Amino acid sequence: MMLSFLLLLSLAASHGSAVTTKLPASYAIWAADSAISRGQGDGLGSNGAPLVSYEHGEFQWALRLLYEKTGNRTYFDYIQQGVDRVVTQNGTVIGGYGFTTDYQLDPIRTGPTFLYLYGVTGQEKYKIAADQYRKQLETQPRTAQGQFWHKLRYPNQGWLDGIYMGDVFYAQYTHDFQAWNTSAWDDIQAQFTLMYRNTLQNATSPPGLLYHGYDYSHTAIWASPDRGHSPEVWDRALGWYMMALVDTLDIFPRSHPGHDTLLSILRDLAPRVRDAADATSGVWWLVITQPGRTGNYFESSGTAMFVYALLKGVRRGYLHNDGFVSAAKKAYGYMTKNWVIGDTNGTMNWLNTVQVGSLDGNGTFEYYISVPTDINDLKGLAAFTLSSIEYESV
Ligand SMILES: *[C@@H]1O[C@H](CO)[C@@H](O)[C@H](O)[C@H]1NC(C)=O
Ligand SMILES: *[C@@H]1O[C@H](CO)[C@@H](O)[C@H](O)[C@H]1NC(C)=O
Ligand SMILES: *[C@@H]1O[C@H](CO)[C@@H](O)[C@H](O)[C@H]1NC(C)=O
Ligand SMILES: *[C@@H]1O[C@H](CO)[C@@H](O)[C@H](O)[C@H]1NC(C)=O
Ligand SMILES: *[C@@H]1O[C@H](CO)[C@@H](O)[C@H](O)[C@H]1NC(C)=O
Ligand SMILES: *[C@@H]1O[C@H](CO)[C@@H](O)[C@H](O)[C@H]1NC(C)=O
Repeated sequence: MMLSFLLLLSLAASHGSAVTTKLPASYAIWAADSAISRGQGDGLGSNGAPLVSYEHGEFQWALRLLYEKTGNRTYFDYIQQGVDRVVTQNGTVIGGYGFTTDYQLDPIRTGPTFLYLYGVTGQEKYKIAADQYRKQLETQPRTAQGQFWHKLRYPNQGWLDGIYMGDVFYAQYTHDFQAWNTSAWDDIQAQFTLMYRNTLQNATSPPGLLYHGYDYSHTAIWASPDRGHSPEVWDRALGWYMMALVDTLDIFPRSHPGHDTLLSILRDLAPRVRDAADATSGVWWLVITQPGRTGNYFESSGTAMFVYALLKGVRRGYLHNDGFVSAAKKAYGYMTKNWVIGDTNGTMNWLNTVQVGSLDGNGTFEYYISVPTDINDLKGLAAFTLSSIEYESV
């Protein structure tokens, strides 16, 4: 069945050799079906118990787009089955969701799926579940400037990751239920701009990318004395932020000045991201700030996120195509050649996604390169699915 997506392509004719290579008709479908066949992103943890997971939220977003594109109900059913494992009949969110005990932004990434299912099915439990996330944001601890703390146990810290985890939901919820609420839109805009200003590499650092995070109190072990930012630019953190920009721009009302603010941040960052790619391969280093340094390597999740954000940015008209599409296509070619490996049973494996990158430790280059990579890590595989959906829409 899986093989029905494989297009036998003989290169023999063009190359004058006997080499035969199989290419899938759609990498997006191949990636999604492979993850589904492994039970990835299904609302359960590896121990079989319900689990609220931002990776599942990211994958569900890709499945939603794939469902809308193909009309294949399998994808919708998989989303709903996964969510029904963490949202009970009365709308309570289970699966380790802490709310006031830990105030994490990560679980909120599943919120856009709740809102989507509410929109499609009208079932009240999904709205009740989304309301709990919205309530969390209402009392989420903040810096003196108003940035959400990434977690209760990381006081005063803003991480780029948190923008994708918390604020795409915040925007979708506001769009769906409180479109009139100007202070909510002001606040969403502030989450993006505070993060941008506080993590931006300053004028003395030419690339102008974003450090992984900052500590407004400057007390974290990694915080720079002058501005409190962490020392390195980690590819996936910037990838989350870039994806959040293009996804939130779809939702943010054009009549509010925040739309133009987000747009100008995207337009500032996109050329710098494009130019930060490795010139030969076209993909991005794990630690973008240290290209070529021993131990650094080309990382697949961040690369896939940049490809998604650049292609979508152009497709939606947020970016004028200034070499973005060709840069993304070059990176995409490297991804499919080097990080996609067909399995004998017809599924595909996804390589080279770093397991985690946290500001829990010392935030140094040595830390980032010490974290192992995984095969079929859903954070990367979901991003590859997203980038493939975009690539196949061009
Ligand atoms: C294909 O094989 C891999 C291991 O090589 C396994 O993890 C996966 O579950 C298999 N998928 C199917 C659909 O049999
Ligand atoms: C829908 O997707 C599933 C999983 O890939 C596949 O088995 C099925 O054949 C597809 N259905 C249609 C109508 O294409
Ligand atoms: C909702 O259901 C869960 C179990 O499914 C139960 O533990 C909880 O008490 C219920 N909450 C309310 C408000 O009924
Ligand atoms: C509007 O949004 C603000 C900021 O999130 C929030 O504090 C307020 O409760 C919202 N208004 C209503 C009526 O929900
Ligand atoms: C730029 O950042 C570096 C490193 O954080 C710092 O040493 C320098 O003082 C900053 N310069 C300005 C103009 O903020
Ligand atoms: C930072 O942590 C890494 C491991 O996570 C370690 O290898 C390195 O020595 C530490 N660096 C400093 C300066 O403490």
